[in-house]
Amino acid sequence: MTLVVAHRGASAALPEHTIGAYELALAQGADGLECDVRLTRDEQLVCLHDRRLERTSNGRGLVVDHTLAQLRRLDFGSWHGTGPARVLTLDQLLGLVRDAGRPVRLLIETKHPSRHGAQVERRLIALLHRHGLAIGDPDRPVQVTVMSFAALALRRIRLLAPALPTVQLLQLLPPGLPVGRLPFGSRIAGPGIELLRARPGLVPALRAAGHQVYVWTVNAPADFALVTQHGVDAVITDEPAAARSALRRA
Ligand code: G3P
Ligand code: CA
Repeated sequence: MTLVVAHRGASAALPEHTIGAYELALAQGADGLECDVRLTRDEQLVCLHDRRLERTSNGRGLVVDHTLAQLRRLDFGSWHGTGPARVLTLDQLLGLVRDAGRPVRLLIETKHPSRHGAQVERRLIALLHRHGLAIGDPDRPVQVTVMSFAALALRRIRLLAPALPTVQLLQLLPPGLPVGRLPFGSRIAGPGIELLRARPGLVPALRAAGHQVYVWTVNAPADFALVTQHGVDAVITDEPAAARSALRRA
């Protein structure tokens, strides 16, 4: 079965990375939630994609130049046209999935960790430990997976928390490696849908090398046909309800 993972929450319907977008994704039956994380100036992990605040809030400047208290005074919803919303911390999101009352996968993407040394990874693993989620226990209803485009960041995660699965995100094929091979030992490959369209042989090659395949960001009907044809393990989508229907039909 292909898992449906809500990209930044149900982010087509509600502003990305807000509690409402994640609650809607759970209500729509998403198997998992995807979340980007960044550090604030006071080293709190917040659920935000962009380095800067302008696109998704009424603030200005870099996320990392603001404390969590300052971000809490901003509106992260009105840009979307569906009303105001507050910044979401990873701690709050972990609370939401813990209280969901059913199995939920949480796919956490560390954004540009090279700018902070290993601090993003250290803070992330410490927080997961506080929630009892860093030990990779298959009997827990909440299962955390860490994703990154940066192989180094994933290597750090595996050193800090060896039981946590990691996804090597791929925008392009990794240079210097045979097709189907991943750098630094991630077991799961995360190719973008554009890469899959250009290189449809990639999924069988990754599978032959023993990797699971999680594809992002899949929204268009033709792309659901493509991922179904190859039988991928997870689709990361802005529209979880539509994705479920499209996978059933394809
Ligand atoms: O799920 C992976 C995907 O989210 C990576 O791209 O830019 O949406 O973080 P981006
Ligand atoms: Ca992401």
